[in-house]
Amino acid sequence: MEDQFSLDGKTAIVTGGSRGIGYAIAAAFIQKGARVIITARGETALLEAASSLGGTCIGKRCDNADPADIARVVEEAWRLSPVDILVNNAGISPFYKRAEQVTPAEFDEVVSVNLRGTYFCSVEVANRSFAEQRPLSIVNIGSVGGTTPLERVAVYGATKAGINLLTKSMALEWADRNVRVNCIAPGWTETEFTDELFASRWGDKLRGDIPMGRFATGQDISGAAVFLASDAAQYVTGAILPVDGGRLLR
Ligand SMILES: NC(=O)c1ccc[n+]([C@@H]2O[C@H](COP(=O)([O-])OP(=O)(O)OC[C@H]3O[C@@H](n4cnc5c(N)ncnc54)[C@H](O)[C@@H]3O)[C@@H](O)[C@H]2O)c1
Repeated sequence: MEDQFSLDGKTAIVTGGSRGIGYAIAAAFIQKGARVIITARGETALLEAASSLGGTCIGKRCDNADPADIARVVEEAWRLSPVDILVNNAGISPFYKRAEQVTPAEFDEVVSVNLRGTYFCSVEVANRSFAEQRPLSIVNIGSVGGTTPLERVAVYGATKAGINLLTKSMALEWADRNVRVNCIAPGWTETEFTDELFASRWGDKLRGDIPMGRFATGQDISGAAVFLASDAAQYVTGAILPVDGGRLLR
């Protein structure tokens, strides 16, 4: 029987793939047979990550906050191979700041990378898919913080709530052109992004709020990404899938 979860022969872009959740997703896609282009802003870590992921992975430097840079990278990627899967994973947050402490420059940076970056990566890739009448699966990486308020990450949460609605809006607009758009909402996940937070006095409290009693790993998130990217999810669009050990149930 055919493996519905196979990504054989498919090409994927994973933004922010040099480490953490994006790296785990790229590794899982490669294991399922995909060619993967990872992007990130820092070139050294990016090239190291691409080489550690093996022969079917290449790294392309791209600043998700810059729509012109996104357009350049999508064009370069398309020249190598038309893209079947886009994972909008790149994301940042000025952590532990109360809402009144966030500066306008920090606000703009988080919105540019997380929300505007997700928007224009999607539009750049989708426009090329439309032109060639190719199917496309977009997987956005949101957060449980896009559904429920978490303290000291108000701007981050607002961008992730925005990504939830972008997911549904684009899914609705593009369903008749064979472009599926879904979103994974990870709970707290062990990466370099959260190292310091989990080691701090907040760590035990955050873990204690998770019904399954542990933080997620990159692998927990990558399984859901393989599902949504693959033909196993060919009738799934506009979904927000929490992968959070039950956190949103509280
Ligand atoms: N770790 C968690 O607990 C958690 C929970 C929910 C959602 N998320 C989301 O998952 C995604 C990945 O998080 P992570 O924990 O792996 O973070 P991370 O900081 O370990 O990795 C982020 C990646 O994004 C890249 N990046 C940052 N700014 C960029 C920019 N301007 N342009 C291009 N790339 C850029 C980094 O180079 C890196 O590869 C983010 O969108 C984050 O919001 C993380």
